[in-house]
Amino acid sequence: MNEAHAKRSDVDPVAGSPVYPLGSRVNRAGRLEVGGCDLVEVAAEFGTPAYIYAPADIRARARAYVDALAAQTDSFEVLFASKAAPITAIYRICREQGLSVDVASGGELHMALRAGFDPERIYMHGNNKTEAELRYAFESGVGYLVLDSFDEIARADALLDRPQRVLIRLTPGIKPSTHSYVQTGQLDSKFGFGLFDGLAARAVDAVDASGNLELVGLHAHIGSQIFELAPYLKAIEAMADFARDLDPEIINIGGGLGIAYAADDQPPPIERYVDVKVEGIRRLFDRAPRILIEPGRSLVGNAGLTIYRVGTVKEIPGIRTYVAVDGGMSDNLRPMLYDAGYEAVIADRPAAAADREATVAGMHCESGDVLVRDVMLADPAVGDVLATPATGAYGYAMANNYNGVPRPPVVFCDDGRAEVVVRRETWDDLLGRDV
Ligand code: LLP
Repeated sequence: MNEAHAKRSDVDPVAGSPVYPLGSRVNRAGRLEVGGCDLVEVAAEFGTPAYIYAPADIRARARAYVDALAAQTDSFEVLFASKAAPITAIYRICREQGLSVDVASGGELHMALRAGFDPERIYMHGNNKTEAELRYAFESGVGYLVLDSFDEIARADALLDRPQRVLIRLTPGIKPSTHSYVQTGQLDSKFGFGLFDGLAARAVDAVDASGNLELVGLHAHIGSQIFELAPYLKAIEAMADFARDLDPEIINIGGGLGIAYAADDQPPPIERYVDVKVEGIRRLFDRAPRILIEPGRSLVGNAGLTIYRVGTVKEIPGIRTYVAVDGGMSDNLRPMLYDAGYEAVIADRPAAAADREATVAGMHCESGDVLVRDVMLADPAVGDVLATPATGAYGYAMANNYNGVPRPPVVFCDDGRAEVVVRRETWDDLLGRDV
């Protein structure tokens, strides 16, 4: 994907940047265009804030994953880690591209089923699946349960009256360099069974001793937004050592590939990431297992952006200019939660000289509600449409109603057509669950 971006014109600051969906550009009117749609017009038609996705970008990345795996092995599955963008229409795109799906809750399972996923291709995760969630999974015939705890092994076995294929989630003792909140492979983790503390071996025994659980594979996910590839190899080595006597049918090596949030971020291309994982598994496992990869962020992150309307511009002489928009920490929690950085651009004139330093603030009652700190903008003014690219993963997913703010709609921009796939919440929706 990076190569495709590199071939583009260098004069268009949008087309030349990896943070935007493929095919984005500055259009003839000098405005930001995504999926063939003018985002200033989209803002006028559908309102702001709004999550914009270019489905063509998701399809291209899904194909890149599938093609990269198919080039190496004919026994594989690419799973959409749907926590990154639990949007029924996106589940549907992934299904149409031949992907399987990872769900992390009963709600995600519900959406995956609604989107038409074959239950056989659903992998159910979660470190504390409730009895209701397990029942729903079993009743709908979910193909694979990824076991995360001894309590779950007992609970699942007791609820079943037929065989159920399961994977065991391992924590291989690997700490990749990423935000500590999104590291998941270290031993001190709420997830999975440790390889080096004996818990994983005991989990295998517990599954063997169960009446209904049939162990078919192992799973590990070491973290998210990772640019280095070496930690995956370490995780695969640890898994292979453990797997020697088990001879598992399936190895699921999780997701985690990072994306560009800023124009100069250079994550490895999907192809290289897949090659490293697949070659590692083929080299280190005695019998070649079915290889599963579980990307979330790298499928949808750069496919999406958020558009806002500028409502106030407050200049504090000698200190800072605050540009306040009509959303904030309710539609994008990542800056507050992880200190995550984003770019921002005035969609009305993305190619104009960005010579005004500003801080993009949200509209919530909290000083920390800042979306982008110290960013250069092209003369921001009240009424402008401001876009933050790369919000496609874990933006909508973590949206909330803080301050009674309705959640934004999801709009697909595809081939020049803009279409709402999730409507905007209304103020009445906020009363919808009152009893
Ligand atoms: N598989 C499992 C078991 C996972 O827990 C995750 C992410 C993935 C796959 C997908 O990882 P990805 O390819 O998206 O890196 N809210 C955080 C990210 C949390 C990731 C949770 N697990 C954020 O906004 O950065």
